[in-house]
Parts: sequence; structure tokens; C-alpha cells
Amino acid sequence: MTDYSKKSYGRNTEVATIFGLLKAGKDISQHGPRRLGKTFVLDRMVEQAKSHGFICVKVEIAGCTDPKMVFRRLCEEITHHRSVSKKTITLLTQRMAQMVNPRSVQAGPWYQPFLSLDLETYLERLLGTLQDDQTQQWAILIDELPIFLKALHDKGVDGIKEARDFMNLFARLRSAKPRVRWLITGSIGINPLAQAGQYMGVLAKFQNFELKPLTEEQAVDFLQDLAQLGLLQNRKTITKQEACAVIEAVGWRAAYYLEALAQELPMNPETDHIKVNANITSAMDELLKHHNSSTFGTWEEHLRKHHSDYQRNLSFGVLNALAPYEIGLTLDALLGEFNDNNLDREVLRQHLLLLITEGFLHQESIADETTPYRFRLEPLRLWWKRYRPQAMA
Ligand SMILES: Nc1ncnc2c1ncn2[C@@H]1O[C@H](COP(=O)(O)OP(=O)(O)OP(=O)(O)O)[C@@H](O)[C@H]1O
Ligand SMILES: [Mg+2]
Repeated sequence: MTDYSKKSYGRNTEVATIFGLLKAGKDISQHGPRRLGKTFVLDRMVEQAKSHGFICVKVEIAGCTDPKMVFRRLCEEITHHRSVSKKTITLLTQRMAQMVNPRSVQAGPWYQPFLSLDLETYLERLLGTLQDDQTQQWAILIDELPIFLKALHDKGVDGIKEARDFMNLFARLRSAKPRVRWLITGSIGINPLAQAGQYMGVLAKFQNFELKPLTEEQAVDFLQDLAQLGLLQNRKTITKQEACAVIEAVGWRAAYYLEALAQELPMNPETDHIKVNANITSAMDELLKHHNSSTFGTWEEHLRKHHSDYQRNLSFGVLNALAPYEIGLTLDALLGEFNDNNLDREVLRQHLLLLITEGFLHQESIADETTPYRFRLEPLRLWWKRYRPQAMA
């Protein structure tokens, strides 16, 4: 396994900054478009927690459909965490078991009895035990919080209330157990949910941390390392010229897509400008060949899963309209493409902002209405242009 703590692209500065904020008593909400590397940062935090005096538990809750499942996932993660001692588990079991009446011998895991009981009381107990841990400070990293909230919202009015109750409970426990720190992150916009569910106030307590793309230098190191570490099928080296050309062709310095294109480079490393370009063209061709590849299909799937019918139609409309244009289109030009009197300019603008948040689109200056909206990821634009996925597939 790669030791990222020594790599320029290992997000070590970001990780140190986040630990600094946690130590200063802040809770964090980490932002960044899909596939940028948000979960990667959480994994590095778990690895490096000890040297910062923390123990980090990462809880991925995308598959959870009710608050009890989140509680269960949290308990499971604590149980299986490498750095959680037997002593801590025993302490947890004892402190929580004091609340079970009558006390009975259980066959299942230590948290089994609590799953059928009052969630709030037990969660408070659990966090209280973590809070009292004198040897280290606990931080709980919640990945994909908005996907969980969205799943609740999708159940209808009752679900939205459940989401609001959950977030209010979360807020209460946060202030009741302030030594336990929180980091939340997610790949879909949380603000529209918080607005609909009226829990914006809870989010306001979190300090925003925006994850940025890799720098050019980090991206070059990452690509050259991939080859050297034997992670590419065709290559043991990537020249500096090729690395720069890969970065330019992808248009967005996210490790995942840089690697996807690099995987398709032909056998022969090149330094000559024309030959480098030929290699990139060939790699891009290969990358776009796999119609159903998970590389791009996930973006289409995202719209099908997480957008309402209305949003989805609009998203497919926008993306199909933009796909032919590398430099993109302005708001008014896009509105013209739709040629639909019922489509309000402001509604479209808000929707474009959502697509920016989710990582589909990029706008150089959000403040300037005349700057075009374009695909953030050039290979995704080419893929979209080639396959033109439709809302009603
Ligand atoms: N700095 C990095 N160095 C090496 N690999 C990285 C880096 N950042 C991300 N990756 C890799 O890129 C892929 C996508 O990253 P990750 O899953 O963290 O993105 P994400 O922002 O959580 O995406 P999503 O919004 O879809 O959940 C992963 O395979 C991850 O290991
Ligand atoms: Mg993620």
C-alpha cells in the first residue's frame, strides 16, 4: 500500500489543516465536486489521526435509510477500528449496558440491545464515553451525509421530518459532547435539502472546508508515480511532457481522471511534442471506447439516482446542449438552445449552480453572467457528445 504521508499529492497539507481546525474546536463540512478526492482525505485522516492526537472513525452512510442504521454503522466502525483498544470497547459496553433493564446476556455484538431502544439516549451515552476518553480525542467523519438525508426526504413528508429530527438530534449531541469532533462530507449538494427540511441552522455550525483540485506539480508527481509504482498496465515511466499533456487533456486535476487517461497511454514514452500529442489522442480514443465504463457512466447514473424528474430533464437538456462546445455556452445562449418559454432564466441559473456543485460544470467567474458554463471534465464532455445519454433511457 502506498504511504501517502510522504507524497506531494497525498493531501497532507489539507489533512494537517483540518486537524488544526478540529483541535481549535471547529467542526468541518468538507465540500468538493464528485470524484475530487473527498473520501481520500477522510482515509488519510484515519491513517494519520494518531500523530495529531486524535482517533478518527470514518462512517460511510450512503446506504443507510433510517437514523438507526447510522447509529449501527457508527457502532460497527468503532468495533472494527484498528486503533480502538479492547479496553475502550469494554468500557463502552459497560457504560451502555447500565441503561439496559433488565440486564440480559446478549449473543450479538455489544450494541445489539441498543438498536431496539431509544436512539437519542444511547447515542448520547456512546458519545459521552468517547468524550471522557482521556488518552485521545475522538473525531467522527461522516461520509455521504446528504445521500442519507436525501433517502429520508424521498420517503415524503414523514421522511423530511425524520431528516430534520435527525439533524436536530445531531446538533444537540454536538453541543452536549463538545470534545467529540465532527466532519461531514458528501457528493451531492446538502443546502437544497437543508432548505427543504428547514435545518440550515444545523449546517451553519460547521466550518466550510473546500477541497481544491491538485496543483499542477502534485498532479505531475501523481502521474509519474503511478507508472513507477507499477500501477499502469502499459508503462513503467511517464515523461514530464506526457504528464503535462494528460493534465491538459483532462482539464481538471482530479487524481481519478488523470489516472483513467494515463491507463490508456500507448507503450512508448515520448518527449517530442508531436509524438506526445499523438499518444494523448490515442489514449483519449481508448478511454471513450468503453461506453458503459464506470468511469463516465457514474455521472449519468448520478442524475438518474439523485435528481427529481424535473431536475433530471433539465440536467440532461443542459449537458446535451453544452456537449458540442469545448468552451461552453453563456446562460443566455443556453436559454436560447432550450427554446422553451416556460423555462425561467433564474430557474436555469440556479440549476446550473447545482450542476457546478455536483462537479458536472465549471464557470470561470460565477459573479460574471457573461462567462460561459462548460463541462468541468473534458473527457466527460467528449463522452457525452459521443453517446448523448437521454433523460428517458
Ligand atoms: N490525492 C490523491 N492521490 C491519489 N489518489 C487519489 C487522490 N485523490 C483521489 N484519489 C483517488 O481517486 C478516486 C476518487 O477519489 P474519492 O473517492 O476520494 O473521491 P470523492 O470526492 O469522495 O468522490 P465521490 O463524490 O464520488 O464520493 C479514488 O480511487 C481515490 O483513491
Ligand atoms: Mg466519496
